Amino acid sequence: MFSRFFRRGNSEQEKSDALVPSDADWSFLGADIHSHFVPGIDDGAKTIEDSLTLLRAMEAMGYKKIVTTPHVMSDFYPNNSQKILAGLQTIQDAARENNINLEISAAAEYYIDETFTELMEREPLLTITKKQVLVEFSMLYEPPMLNSALFNMQTAGYKPIIAHPERYMFFHNKFERYRELRDRGCLLQLNLLSISGYYGRNIMEVALRLLEKGMYDYCGSDMHHEKHAAALKGMLHSKAYNTLAKYPFLNSQLCL
Ligand SMILES: [Fe+2]
Repeated sequence: MFSRFFRRGNSEQEKSDALVPSDADWSFLGADIHSHFVPGIDDGAKTIEDSLTLLRAMEAMGYKKIVTTPHVMSDFYPNNSQKILAGLQTIQDAARENNINLEISAAAEYYIDETFTELMEREPLLTITKKQVLVEFSMLYEPPMLNSALFNMQTAGYKPIIAHPERYMFFHNKFERYRELRDRGCLLQLNLLSISGYYGRNIMEVALRLLEKGMYDYCGSDMHHEKHAAALKGMLHSKAYNTLAKYPFLNSQLCL
């Protein structure tokens, strides 16, 4: 049903391509709230040169503001606020020295597992804006502590933003779980690349369904490397771009 978004080489696609202005960019979003640009602390940018390449790509695609979000995951990326903020300083300085005109701040993408609540009690969480905190969890199975961890966050005054809900395969046949998360006061963040089919057809279809139902609050690039940057640029010439441009994402409010 949704494959019409990316069908190539037919008159429908050609017509929709014609509707995308040649100077299309992501400036209508203003801010990106999910990326991995701090070098050497997660699976994103490895060096400061990588960071600069990705930041230049974001600037060229029309973004004005970046809230970069390194992974905080006890097993693989045991980052903390101090380490992330030191890394932020490094990329802010490098961006300035290289005339990259982006407002750059940092938060984190916190991984919900059995260690998360303890971490939250140990130090204040880094926020995207106000008290909003980006979280993710296993893509293989629903963590048994998910609801209690979200509840604990809310009790502590935070508002969870669930990163890429469309990528949690175990929710695909339980669409009501998405509604439940929203009813519990969570915000949902679309990975833009999900709409392009980058992560596969099933994820694209779930993402389009969530979009159609108006269930996303934010979108994000979740950019780790140049391949993501190229794919995001490629989306500027798809019919999906028009759909995304019309959607009332909250991203632009971060630029007010
Ligand atoms: Fe991410």
